[in-house]
This record gives sequence, C-alpha cells and structure tokens, in this order.
Amino acid sequence: MKKNIAVAGTGYVGLTTGTCFADLGNRVTCIDINPDKIAMLERGEVPIYEPGLSEMITRNVKAGRLHFTTDYKTALEEAEYVFICVGTPSGVDGEADLRYVRMAAESIAKTMTHPIIIVNKSTVPVGTGDWVADIVHRSQPKPIPFDVVSCPEFMREGSALYDFMNPDRVVLGSKNKDAAEKVAQIHIPLRTRIIVTDLRTAEMIKYASNAFLATKISFINEIAAICEKMGADVNEVAVGMGYDKRIGPQFLNAGLGYGGSCFPKDVKALEHMALVQGSHPALLRAVMDINRDARRWVIFQLRALLGGQLNHRKIGLLGLAFKPNTDDIRESPALEIARMLQYEGALITGYDPVAMGNASRDNPELRLVESAYELADGADALVVCTEWNEFKQVDFVRIKESMKQPILVDGRNIYEPDMMQELGFIYRAVGRGSTFTNGHEFAHNGN
Ligand code: UGA
Repeated sequence: MKKNIAVAGTGYVGLTTGTCFADLGNRVTCIDINPDKIAMLERGEVPIYEPGLSEMITRNVKAGRLHFTTDYKTALEEAEYVFICVGTPSGVDGEADLRYVRMAAESIAKTMTHPIIIVNKSTVPVGTGDWVADIVHRSQPKPIPFDVVSCPEFMREGSALYDFMNPDRVVLGSKNKDAAEKVAQIHIPLRTRIIVTDLRTAEMIKYASNAFLATKISFINEIAAICEKMGADVNEVAVGMGYDKRIGPQFLNAGLGYGGSCFPKDVKALEHMALVQGSHPALLRAVMDINRDARRWVIFQLRALLGGQLNHRKIGLLGLAFKPNTDDIRESPALEIARMLQYEGALITGYDPVAMGNASRDNPELRLVESAYELADGADALVVCTEWNEFKQVDFVRIKESMKQPILVDGRNIYEPDMMQELGFIYRAVGRGSTFTNGHEFAHNGN
C-alpha cells in the first residue's frame, strides 16, 4: 500500500532510497539543508552520477510521487516514516562524525506534528539509535510518540538502483517490534529476506558486513604480494578459491585496494569503537595496513621500471574514480597515487570517463585529458587505476606508438600478461608472478 515517506539527506543513499521508494509507488519528499542541491534537483539536474538515477528521478517527479524541499516541516506534514540518510564522515580519530545525524534528529523533533517512525540508514556507530531517540525526546517542544528503527543500507555506488531493488536481505533493528514490522511493510515489494533484530545488532551487522568485505579485499591483496614473489598468478588463485561455496568468488579482485566513502571510513570507525571499549582490533588494523601498501605498490613498480627517479617523468593515470561507474573520488587510490607521484616530482596526467570534474577540484595540479590516447602521448608510463570497461577495449598498438616508453602498470589486473608482452609492453600487474619472474622455470626449479 502507498505510504508517505520523508528522506533527510540527498547524497547517494538518500537520493537512491527516496527515488526507489517513489518508484515503488509511495509519495516521497527528499529534504536537504543545502538549498543549491535542492534547486538543482528541482531543475531536473542530479548532483551525483549514478547510472539510471537521473531517468528514475524524472519519471517519478513527473508522476507526482517525488518532491524536494529544504523544509522539514513541509516534508514531515503527512509522513509516516522519515529516513535519516545524512553523511557520517570520519572524525579526527577515525570515529564517525555524527553532527549531521544530530542536526537531522533535532530538525525532525522540532517539526513533527504527529507520531512518526524515524528510520536510520546512515552508517552510525553501535548505540546511535538510542542516542537519536534521546535527542528527539529532548528536542521536542511537546511530547509526541515516535520510534527509531535502524535499517542499514547495503547498496553499492554504481549499481545502487539495482542493489536497492534486489537486495540480498533487509535488516531492521528496533526496540519496538511493531515499528520494525511497519518498516518491513514498505520493503515487501522487494521480495527479499527481512531480518528483524534489536537496534544495536542491526547497527553492528552493517559494520561487520563492510569490514568483512574489506577484509576479503586485503586478504587477496596479501596473497597477491606473496604470489608476486613466488611466481603464482593471483587472478587464477582467486578463481580457484572462489569455487569453494564457503569462500565465494566476489571481492577477491586483487589490485590497488578499496576506496570510496564507505569501507575506509567504516573499518576505521569500527576499529575506533573497539579501541574505546578496550578491545584489540588486530585484524582490522592489518586490513587497513595492507590497503595502504596496495597503493604504494604502484610507486615501487614505477621507481623500479624508471631507474629509481620519478622527477619530471610523465605518468598517465587511466581512471580517477574509486571504482568504475561512479564519479566519486573519495579515498580513490588514483588520487592518492597521483599525490605520492607528484611529491616525487612526476608530472601526472589523468583521464576518467566521468570523474574528471571532481578530480580537478581535489587536485588542481593534475593535468586532465579527454581520452586514453591523449594520455599515452609522450608518457613514460601508464597506470590503470580504475577498471572502466572502455579501458579494456583500447587500441594498444596506437597507445604503444605514442608513448615515450611502453611501460604499463595495471593496478586492476584487467589485461592478459602474455598478450601485453606480445604487444611489446613492459607490463606489470598485481600479484601475477609470471610478469615478474619466469614463472614456470621458477616453479620447476623449486620442485
Ligand atoms: C560498499 C559495499 O559494497 C555496500 O554493500 C555498502 O552499502 C556500501 O559500501 C556502503 O557502506 O555504503 P561501495 O563503497 O559503493 O559499496 O563499493 P564496492 O563496490 O563495495 O567497492 C569498494 C571498494 O573496494 C572499491 O574501491 C573497489 O575498487 C574495491 N574492491 C572491490 C576491490 O579492490 N576488490 C574487489 O574484489 C572488490
């Protein structure tokens, strides 16, 4: 049945959640305190790049199901649910900074006029649901009943719409089972498992899920580092491991490590929570260390291939977004690599199909070009930082001809080492031992 839903925050999570709920037939009002963002959305412009989102917004605005406002009062007027989807950036010690959650909770408390269910989708430390309830109680001008339900999101940027509409599960946590049931109702059209638990457990499920996925990535990157020394191929190792149902094939792509607005921040925040409570989060620390090393790997490769000196070397970065199908550059390995190389005096050029605007705001010294071919022109080396599909199809003969020297460092393992060597590239990939040693000979000698 059609419901009236308000969504606070129009970042990736809020905009996707609001738009998808509208697409499921509900009446949704998205709120943001930033008037420029709301003005953009009202003009039909979308402040972020997410495949399919712009079309879905237009469709639902036209159908009269999706609205935007800066005013909580208007949004909450008839809402039965209000989703909190605001940012929780990292604080100075890695803790989650909850100032936007607090602001949203206070605004809800001050403007609600009837009982409402507050659904928290922002990733927040365990215990925040109780804290939100407390803020709302204390900020209400007169007491009106409400419930807090935690409903962590598991969407990935780049496939957010698909993930919202086809979730593996929906997790709901609340002190009040009836409130959780009411939130379950609006998820029924998604036809998925709905897990109802208490607030703190739901909040922990989110951190544990992200930390586990980050651990899988760091695990395969550690194996990659060993493969590289031993003459084994980590891509094939991952395939061989992935067929074991207990392991599974996903999140075993070795490369430059995880970036984005979630894994780096959430692993850090979980470590911080553990430390504050007197735990010793050794595994989480190792996961972060390995992720840092994964980016440095590029610098070591380039130093080795370019005679130790990177000063004045022209290096091209293929891809700047933290992963394909997004313009998000937060914690992007490419931008950290650019900074490290610039620090050593290298001249860095970048190309990305959609993230160049964001990249140039982040790093004004970065030179930007319009294609992989322009990037190759006169370059001492190219580095694949993001595995965009269009990089898999380039004309390598043309690329090689225009480079000063044919050095290709593949930070995402998207090419076949044998093919690249046949084409005449000096090719390095992550954890693909045969590109470093003569793998077969090494293995035989070892026996
Ligand atoms: C991640 C989770 O996958 C979502 O379930 C979660 O909802 C979201 O965080 C969040 O907490 O909001 P996202 O950050 O969009 O989603 O991106 P992922 O596709 O998970 O990739 C994260 C990073 O890991 C990327 O930098 C990617 O390149 C890297 N990665 C991923 C690898 O290096 N290897 C892999 O095998 C997989």
